[in-house]
Parts: sequence; C-alpha cells; structure tokens
Amino acid sequence: MGEYAIVSENLTKIFRSGKRKIVAVDHVSLKIKRGEFFGLLGPNGAGKTTFTKMLVTLLIPDEGEAWVDGFSILKEPIEVRKRVGWMMGETGGRALYWRLSGYDNLMFFAKLHNVPRDVAEQRIKVLLRFVELENDAHKLVMNYSTGMRVKLMLIRALLHNPDILILDEPTLGLDVESARKVRTFLRRLVDDLGKTILFTSHNMYEVEMLCDRIAIINRGRIIFIGTPREIREKVEEIKIVEIQLAENGNVLDDVLRRITSLSVVNEVLSKEILERNIIIRVSVTDHATAIPEIANALRGYNIESVHRALPTLEEAFLKLAGVKIFSMKPSGVGVGRYGRRR
Ligand SMILES: Nc1ncnc2c1ncn2[C@@H]1O[C@H](COP(=O)(O)OP(=O)(O)OP(=O)(O)O)[C@@H](O)[C@H]1O
Ligand SMILES: [Mg+2]
Repeated sequence: MGEYAIVSENLTKIFRSGKRKIVAVDHVSLKIKRGEFFGLLGPNGAGKTTFTKMLVTLLIPDEGEAWVDGFSILKEPIEVRKRVGWMMGETGGRALYWRLSGYDNLMFFAKLHNVPRDVAEQRIKVLLRFVELENDAHKLVMNYSTGMRVKLMLIRALLHNPDILILDEPTLGLDVESARKVRTFLRRLVDDLGKTILFTSHNMYEVEMLCDRIAIINRGRIIFIGTPREIREKVEEIKIVEIQLAENGNVLDDVLRRITSLSVVNEVLSKEILERNIIIRVSVTDHATAIPEIANALRGYNIESVHRALPTLEEAFLKLAGVKIFSMKPSGVGVGRYGRRR
C-alpha cells in the first residue's frame, strides 16, 4: 500500500429513494500514487462527488473499501481525516463564515484541527502569500469574490498540512482568470510541495492540462484510465468531418437528413447555426470516402467547405463515455452543457 496515496477497491454507493435505486458509484477500483496529480472526469451525475465524499469519510460505502494514506476509510476514519485535506464543491463558500475575515476563518479552522497557534499563524501567512490573498486576508468573507473564496477554502484544506488533497470541482464557477490561478496553485502543490491531489472536474481541457493521470467516470463506472497522452491517442482514432454551408437554419433538417443517410457517416456530433452559416461536425468511418460523398449528397446547397477536422477533447470524452453528444433538435444550437461551442 506504501506507494499509493489512495486506493479504492470496488467502492460502491447506492442511493435508495422509495422503490428507486441509484447506483451512484459502481465498484470503482483506483490506485493513486503518491505525488500524483489525478483527475476524475465525468459528466453531471456521474458519481464524482459521491466517490470523493466516501474517500473523505463523509459518506459510508455500501460495498467495497478504500484506503487513504494506508488507513481504511471504514475502520480508521479519524486517521483518514487527519491525513486528507478536502474541499467539496462549495464554490458558494457555504463552508466559510461570511461575517468573519478570511484570516479569522483560517485561524478558527486551524484550531478545530488542533494546529498550535504559532504554527497556524506561520502556515496561514505562507499559504495566503502562495495564493496571493495576503492583501485581502482581513476583509470579511462576505466581500470576497467567488475566486477569493475558493482560494480561502483551498487554504482551509491545507491548514493541518495534509499530504493528500481531495478536491471536488475546485474551479467550478470561477472565471477564466481565477480558474487559471487556482490551477497554477494546485500544480505547485504537487510539484513544489509533493502533495498528492485527486480532483474532479467535468472540464476535459483542465484535466488534460493539469493531470498526470485521468480516470473517466460515467454512471458510476470508470470507463477509462490513462495519461492525457493516452486520451489524445484515443482522440486521434476518431475521424471527423466538418461541413460548412452558406445557408440559413431552415435547411438544416434536410441537410442533416441527407448527411445521415450516408453509410460512411456514423454520427452527427454537433451543429451550429450562425447568421447565414451552418456548421456541422460528423464522425465518419473514413475521411477519404466520406468527404466526396458528403459533398455529393449536399449538391444544390451552397457548400463553403467539407474538410477533415481534429476532434475536440470533449468529443473524444463523450465518445469514451458513450454519452449521446447531441439530440436532434431542429433549433440546432442548444447542445447543452457538453455541447461544443466555439
Ligand atoms: N444524497 C443523495 N440521494 C439520492 N441520490 C443521490 C444523492 N447524492 C447523489 N445522488 C445521485 O447519485 C448520482 C451521482 O451523483 P454525484 O453527485 O456523485 O454526481 P457528480 O458526478 O458529482 O455530478 P455533478 O457533475 O453534477 O456534480 C446521481 O444520479 C445523483 O442524482
Ligand atoms: Mg458533483
């Protein structure tokens, strides 16, 4: 167990409401090495929060077992709590006292962790500087921005100096700049301080950028584990053709009908209507035959281009997850949280 910071074996959580039974986490087995930055990626309701909550002993599994820093989450929950810092999707900052300053919040939580006062003061000083929050430390949390609150919660997770951090969507709800700062901070925790991080996200790019390894979870099950590079390789197996037409939205249905009737076309991945322009992305079995066949099927329309396109990581993820990327809505633009936007 020594080389691993976190091990789960068949970890399972079932929620029952009346007769309904939801297997939120379904026999998940993972091994996360010390010093590893590990990302758990998955769509809404995939089981990310439930999985991380079991690891930090906030939820009791129905089946399976896990060890954090070698301690059993079932038999030694107190030891686990001493060794792990966590933050659970609380971007609104509900886990903080809004009428206290950031600094007073931290001192309070340090006390709960039995950190001696002088140690706490020193540690808080260093951490505040680390996240560039030192100038705002004495403001009330109610006057903080979301990004500032997230940083404060990250510091809070670090007060007892845990080697292992379990963070549920730490960048959710942050603007681009704050998210970037938080990511840099997390990466430094791993690179400079040797921490192990397990974090969850539904942002493919973030995970690819940050992580040493990634697991993709869907409907409670792990469907892929590998390095960002391995995901990239999978991505490149997906063959995509992008079709651009100088037409307006009312021809979309006919265009889609013509394209999807071709056997070389597997699936429509996305469609967008922009002013007098339609952009459709499809996955195909083979570029060389698909491109002329599609162009031919669309004769009569104003074709701007039919070309080979690289899949986005999101498309690859959805492919791996087996999630239906796009529903055939005539409006064409509402592709939802995982839909591709440019
Ligand atoms: N306390 C609960 N009672 C009943 N069902 C629950 C409970 N918590 C979660 N679930 C269900 O378990 C499944 C997994 O939820 P979970 O919150 O772990 O997903 P998630 O991957 O964190 O999703 P999101 O990206 O939306 O945060 C979902 O179907 C959810 O509705
Ligand atoms: Mg969640």
